[in-house]
Amino acid sequence: MQHTPESPDSTETNPGSCAVILAAGKSTRMRSDLPKPLHPVCGLPLTAHVIRACREAGVGRVIVVVGHEAARVRAGLGDEVEYVLQAEQLGSGHAAMCAEEALRDFSGSVLIVAGDVPLVKPETLRRLIAAAAQGDRSGAMLTAWLKDPTGYGRVICDDRGNVLRIVEHRDASPEERAIKVWNPSIYCLKAAGLFEMLHRIGSDNAQGELYLTDVVGLASAAGRPIAAVPVEDAREVLGVNTRVELAEVARHMRMRVLERLMLAGVTVVDPAATYVDVDVEVGRDTVIEPQTHLLGDTTVGERCTIGPMAVVQNMRVGDDTTVVQSRVCDGAIGSRVRIGPFANIRPGCVIRDGAKIGDFVELKNADIGEGVAASHLSYIGDADVGPGTNVGAGTITCNYDGYHKHRTVIGARAFIGSHTTLVAPVRVGDGAMTAAGTVVTEDVEPDSMAIARARQTNREGWAARWRAAHERHRENAPVPASERGSRAEDASVNGATQGSAQE
Ligand code: UD1
Ligand code: MG
Repeated sequence: MQHTPESPDSTETNPGSCAVILAAGKSTRMRSDLPKPLHPVCGLPLTAHVIRACREAGVGRVIVVVGHEAARVRAGLGDEVEYVLQAEQLGSGHAAMCAEEALRDFSGSVLIVAGDVPLVKPETLRRLIAAAAQGDRSGAMLTAWLKDPTGYGRVICDDRGNVLRIVEHRDASPEERAIKVWNPSIYCLKAAGLFEMLHRIGSDNAQGELYLTDVVGLASAAGRPIAAVPVEDAREVLGVNTRVELAEVARHMRMRVLERLMLAGVTVVDPAATYVDVDVEVGRDTVIEPQTHLLGDTTVGERCTIGPMAVVQNMRVGDDTTVVQSRVCDGAIGSRVRIGPFANIRPGCVIRDGAKIGDFVELKNADIGEGVAASHLSYIGDADVGPGTNVGAGTITCNYDGYHKHRTVIGARAFIGSHTTLVAPVRVGDGAMTAAGTVVTEDVEPDSMAIARARQTNREGWAARWRAAHERHRENAPVPASERGSRAEDASVNGATQGSAQE
């Protein structure tokens, strides 16, 4: 099939186009047990960004070359791409060669991209694909310019914009190292002749590897050179080989995400201290305060205030909601909800419109009804709380018996007194109340009041006598029996007090 190049502004997928992404390398310089393609950048594995850019450029077939930790890399990158195996890591040229069998019947241009260049934009790839199709060339490659391109392969061009050859930093002479134009490792090469050239490259270089870059020199020598397509902003094609570069690239990616949000009407108070993953959506006039993380599959509505110091992960958040100094994950929050400071909203919670979850409240797998207030110091797990219910400070659901989780169901407009302990499974009906300090072990009927606590007794003068006895003890004077507390009284106070009062 004849490959039709994408026009630069087309976003349609071209089923006849193809990309090979190289992700089989050993990632030695990362010094990590996690393979480099899987190191996260703004919520996606490093190489997933490259896959996405290819897809958004309209590439139909994406083939990822895996090798080092192949199974793990495949699992991490998912099954929406094809994989080929590079059993031994003999270099980037050898990695590209591993796609030969998969591309046997392919006659178009192949985008070949290193898997460690996550910032490349789809429009740049489209520009490259279009350039590769022009004239009688072997293809085209991106080039970039940096004041200090240490580590990168240097690009040697003629004065007509054709690349003569690429020399790796390690193999370069001092004169070659002085060249500021470098190779971002993003090529679009015509399949015809590509594998024949790949088979001809040797490993006579500092690393003893088969370098993909040598194809460029072979193409030029054959009279069908590869055209240089400069990228304006070198930051877009920075490669990740070390953790230092990982942090640098992640910083650029974050800025890109934040710029998208700001241009869409979101206030980001301090972009340098705000961490938003690539797929997060935020509505107009929402304010993101510093030290806030919006992660994973998260959507925040309009006019919200998130932060300072909030972590919001995999959440749906409605409009006009506030989340301050809190962590909320894997659930949904309605509109006009106030969360925090210091709330911990664990997975499986739905917090409905107008609810208030205050300081040191932990929720897990709970459905919190409209207008519910749980303002302080509570644990509500595996529970339904009906609309308009007030949950007093210190309320705890005892949801776990050591083997199973049990549910607490509280009706609408109930009033749960402070320090109520709800031993699940248990139900509290609509409009019911529990007295402060009550341990609820039986269902409470609607509009009833449950009280379960020891009745209080006040001992007149006891405290004064107890103090007097101890003052005397301190002076070593014997304490007359008449001034000691009785045994019965002593037994009602805590152990420490009881012990000393009897001495
Ligand atoms: C490569 C280029 C260099 C360029 C730089 C840009 C070569 C020889 N050098 O160097 O000119 O400036 O990228 O970032 O290509 N890989 C495999 N199998 C292998 C070896 C590598 O799949 O056997 C993959 C790696 O996983 C990686 C990519 O190829 O995604 C590039 O390899 P890497 O070792 O990062 O090459 P660089 O030293 O960065
Ligand atoms: Mg690299």
